[in-house]
Amino acid sequence: MAVPTVRLNSGHSMPQIGLGVWQASPDEAVPAVVWAIEAGYRHIDTAALYANEAQVGEAIRRSGVPRDQIFVTTKLWNSDQGYSQALAAFDASLKALGLDYVDLYLLHAPVVGKRADSWRALEKLHREGKARSIGVSNFGVHHLKEMESYATIPPAVNQIEITPYLQRHDIVEYCNAKGIVIQAYSPLTQGNKLSDPRLVAIADKHGKTTAQVLIRWGIEKGFVTLPKSVKRDRLIANKDVFDFALDARDLALLDQFEEGLVVGWDPTVWD
Ligand SMILES: NC(=O)c1ccc[n+]([C@@H]2O[C@H](COP(=O)([O-])OP(=O)(O)OC[C@H]3O[C@@H](n4cnc5c(N)ncnc54)[C@H](OP(=O)(O)O)[C@@H]3O)[C@@H](O)[C@H]2O)c1
Repeated sequence: MAVPTVRLNSGHSMPQIGLGVWQASPDEAVPAVVWAIEAGYRHIDTAALYANEAQVGEAIRRSGVPRDQIFVTTKLWNSDQGYSQALAAFDASLKALGLDYVDLYLLHAPVVGKRADSWRALEKLHREGKARSIGVSNFGVHHLKEMESYATIPPAVNQIEITPYLQRHDIVEYCNAKGIVIQAYSPLTQGNKLSDPRLVAIADKHGKTTAQVLIRWGIEKGFVTLPKSVKRDRLIANKDVFDFALDARDLALLDQFEEGLVVGWDPTVWD
């Protein structure tokens, strides 16, 4: 079944599930991305930090699916923030990917003292058509409010860690009000909660896996969700979440899972 898309404030559309490739080694990344595209994924989430942009580009070419049908995101790493550094880092990413534009370019995190200059660089890349949409990652509400003082183009997305165990109501409310799409990273809690008996009960009720319930939760909330797997059977199953829906009772139960669990880093609290 085709993955639905969401419309960004840039006017472009983004598939609601993307394959994450953080911690996919170069050897793993090529087959994983080829399998994903074969399985119907049309959205890949990489970053300069992940050191697999070249393999993502290679897999897209190998897949035989036209480049313009695949939504490709990459990100500016923190040590490359600043205006001229960001422009140079973007060129390096584009070269590694072997592409002439990316669909989405993100500031990986809100680096203190650099993020405004970095954003100016992203705006230039957007105006030149090299980054069709631009956005941020790991921005808290105070970072997003501050952006209103320096951004002439608003961010299309804010990519953050978000799961039933870390619901970030303040960021969600702000982004929804401003038309900024939330991308949910580490949607599977990096595996930490896949055996939670409360989650198992919901999964059993629907005849689905706990991973599928977590992914479906993000879809129900209107997020774009980015599960990572380098295993063919898993990445196929992770996309198979459009033949069931969580009902009001499931969603009310999941709302109670909040425990402030951060499985990655948390730059949303940086100054
Ligand atoms: N912007 C940021 O700062 C940031 C930070 C973190 C992540 N991200 C993005 O979000 C993506 C996903 O996040 P993540 O990689 O941290 O974690 P995740 O997607 O929550 O979990 C990935 C882990 O779960 C395993 N897994 C995948 N599908 C499974 C399934 N169906 N059943 C059981 N285990 C399964 C994977 O192993 P196998 O691969 O062996 O299947 C891997 O160990 C990243 O790849 C990246 O694109 C962004």
